[in-house]
Amino acid sequence: MMRQIWIERHGPPEVLALREAAMPTPRAGEVLIQVAAAGVNFADIMARRGVYPDAPRPPCVVGYEVAGEVIALGEGVAEFAVGQSVAALTRFGGYSTHVTVPQVQVFQLPAGLDPAHGAALPLTYLTAYQLVVAMGRLGKGETVLIHSAGGGVGLSAIELAHIVGAEVIGVASRAKHDFLRSRGVTRLVDARSEDLVTRVKALTDGRGVDLALDPIGGRSWRQSVDCLAPLGRLGAFGFAAAADRPGRWLPMLRAAAGVPWLRFTPLALMNANHGVFGVNLGHLWGETAMLRRWLLDILRWQSEGKINPVVDRSFPFAEAAAAHAHIEARRNVGKVLLVPRADSCPPAAR
Ligand SMILES: NC(=O)c1ccc[n+]([C@@H]2O[C@H](COP(=O)([O-])OP(=O)(O)OC[C@H]3O[C@@H](n4cnc5c(N)ncnc54)[C@H](OP(=O)(O)O)[C@@H]3O)[C@@H](O)[C@H]2O)c1
Repeated sequence: MMRQIWIERHGPPEVLALREAAMPTPRAGEVLIQVAAAGVNFADIMARRGVYPDAPRPPCVVGYEVAGEVIALGEGVAEFAVGQSVAALTRFGGYSTHVTVPQVQVFQLPAGLDPAHGAALPLTYLTAYQLVVAMGRLGKGETVLIHSAGGGVGLSAIELAHIVGAEVIGVASRAKHDFLRSRGVTRLVDARSEDLVTRVKALTDGRGVDLALDPIGGRSWRQSVDCLAPLGRLGAFGFAAAADRPGRWLPMLRAAAGVPWLRFTPLALMNANHGVFGVNLGHLWGETAMLRRWLLDILRWQSEGKINPVVDRSFPFAEAAAAHAHIEARRNVGKVLLVPRADSCPPAAR
């Protein structure tokens, strides 16, 4: 038997429940992975609360990424061998002790990278890659504003921005600023206690930023657009504003009312010399060749020591509710993981 964490119904973290299920068998072209660590993404929290349209309807098992060991191969799988240490993209179902995954979504982990840091790589860094490199086209000497800079995607985006030679302004709760300084970000804003636009303008001698990466949505998108320099672009990649307060429809409607819809029309963008683009990695699942190319760049940078995933904490599967509550309370600095057994991963490293 295997174990899985189910979202029983929409609601608070306590709706997460551990259940047993039959062990899956890999079909042709699939790999069976014994999971050592599963990544928790903010989208899982939105799914649990019922404000994530892409998520399956409960009862369901979410989870976008895992790392572990290959323990069986389906017919025709030649690229992998039993015993290999791998990471994989799963959509959905990653909150499981065992997963079957099509081989195109599986990646061998470099020697020396433990599963905890392996599970912190796929979705988080691919999202950052799409934002910073593929669509944001951030260039040397440019400045990028990164919201939720202390989170999984935020910290990954900081590393990628530094790789391309750009300057970073990080937005995060003040308690995370010291850690962000240790990651080379000296220009920091706490948007909940300071006026974002005034502060960003002050930090850029009035010019603004070339790229703003904003997963908050609502009125935050308005502020981010106000922070843009001429030729600046906004990368919209989340709607965390809809999870700002308890409830489902009311927070969603309040967040939607804050979006500057008229500033996103072609005419408004033309007159402002601004660009707005959207990123939803979950809708690129069919683009496996492209995602593999991006992940190979990411793994190369990891092996060259240019990126170093930050794991905040690993929670045993039985404490999945505490893992969600930890992120919702904005306490995480880096990636939060779920591990099948409390002792199956090394202690969280920063
Ligand atoms: N479009 C895509 O393909 C894609 C892929 C991955 C992630 N995302 C989005 O990117 C964002 C970051 O994801 P992540 O998984 O790396 O999470 P995360 O940033 O590790 O964790 C959440 C952090 O977001 C900030 N935050 C902002 N609004 C919040 C709210 N209403 N409730 C709780 N925290 C809030 C908090 O940081 P501060 O206290 O410092 O503000 C919190 O620590 C999420 O919005 C997620 O939906 C999008």
